[in-house]
Amino acid sequence: MADIKTIDDANFAGKRVLVRVDFNAPVGDDGAVSDDTRLRAALPTINKLIGDGARVILTSHRGRPAGTGYEEPFSLGPIARRLQELLDRDIVLSSELVGPVARETVDAMENGDVVLLENIRFDAREKKNDPEFARELADLADAYVNDAFGTAHRAHASTAGVAQFLPSYAGYLMEKEVATLTGMLDEPRRPFVAILGGSKVSDKIKVIDALLDKADTLIIGGGMCFTFLLAQGKAVGTSLKEEDWVERAAAMIEKARERGVSLLLPTDVVVADAFANDAKIETVSVDDIPADMMGLDIGPETAALYAEAIAMAKSVFWNGPMGVFEMPSFEAGTRRVAEAVAAVQKAAFEAVAAAQAERCIKCTDGCSPQRPRTLRNATLSQEATGTTGVPDAPPLFPASADAPSTPMVSDELRSRVRAMGERFLLSDREVDVLMLYALGYTQKKVGEALHITPATAHTHIKRIYGKCGLHSRQEILEYLATYGF
Ligand code: 3PG
Repeated sequence: MADIKTIDDANFAGKRVLVRVDFNAPVGDDGAVSDDTRLRAALPTINKLIGDGARVILTSHRGRPAGTGYEEPFSLGPIARRLQELLDRDIVLSSELVGPVARETVDAMENGDVVLLENIRFDAREKKNDPEFARELADLADAYVNDAFGTAHRAHASTAGVAQFLPSYAGYLMEKEVATLTGMLDEPRRPFVAILGGSKVSDKIKVIDALLDKADTLIIGGGMCFTFLLAQGKAVGTSLKEEDWVERAAAMIEKARERGVSLLLPTDVVVADAFANDAKIETVSVDDIPADMMGLDIGPETAALYAEAIAMAKSVFWNGPMGVFEMPSFEAGTRRVAEAVAAVQKAAFEAVAAAQAERCIKCTDGCSPQRPRTLRNATLSQEATGTTGVPDAPPLFPASADAPSTPMVSDELRSRVRAMGERFLLSDREVDVLMLYALGYTQKKVGEALHITPATAHTHIKRIYGKCGLHSRQEILEYLATYGF
């Protein structure tokens, strides 16, 4: 990744490494994590650090606690229990986030140990990006790794502040998501459809402006659409609106017209007389929003229009829901869009979506668990175009008859190695290397087969070890055995 140091740029042996992860995962009534996707997405980074012999201090938020100290419903206890199983090692959950007790916990760590700090949002200074709090966090460690792509849009103490005080690196998940996003925005496959939702135009105006330079179609939903509707001269009742931003919204509509971007706004909306799931609800045209009602979702006509536009897409960028999808009465629009995005992705796709959009897609029946690769990681993004970080290397599959060094590989082996690659976020090239290595190829032979130097093959193998937490060919074979190899 240009300009961003990654964890492959350092060896963390003996170092205390503070790792910001996004473990904002759901917990069921039984007190167990009900979807561990985000935990699994962080494993390659954690394993690499453990493999280096680092002392790994994990920090994350979960939910939105008040910031007044410990609150049981937001505790990371369930996360620690699940992570312990996934890593197959003990994890210490530190109830203190900073200060002498947290420091003592860290001082007691041995190389390869993992400590998880309690929910970082139990301290109100986290969300304020308080420099003193960031410095106290930094005092726990020698280096900082950010692998929380799902939270990267928040300038909080543990995501932005702490990086001012420590040598900082991107983790593997962050690296992959940023590379994908950059590649996609630089050279999107067209038609490129961008979908923006969420509540505020003011939060997204720069994104809207930038996307109008790139996208073929820009779809607007969520609370922010009402500011755009105001800019079109419509009355929006008691809907969320930002009067100060109407002019900017009008300028965006004009920019879209000038650049030939198809800007889609709702034609109908679901309105309610209160911000509540059991409020009085109606679906109305955007020309007839009652003065005493608020729009809380796009309407069915709009959802169908948006789905149609999405169906044409070769690349999709999605940020923010179409309505208040957390309430069942107002989830239909987001659900319809999620289904449309998932259908495109199953076909040929390239998509990047932000954290909320990932949750929307995951909660959409029929979309999971067959989530596309882009949606596999906690926050999404993708590389369906085959970008692997080694762009000029020829593909190994399908095997070519005139490439004698290309091995004959059974479909079964191929699918088992790919399953392992998926699990550990290996790139396509790393999967190729892993396959040959598992077949007994030396590094030199791997290099010859893939037309890369032995040194590059060696680097790939090291990365595979790091991501998978394995240390030898024997361990790879043992791991593959668990896939029936
Ligand atoms: C998410 O799930 O959207 C991320 O973890 C960020 O959470 P937040 O919206 O509470 O900051």
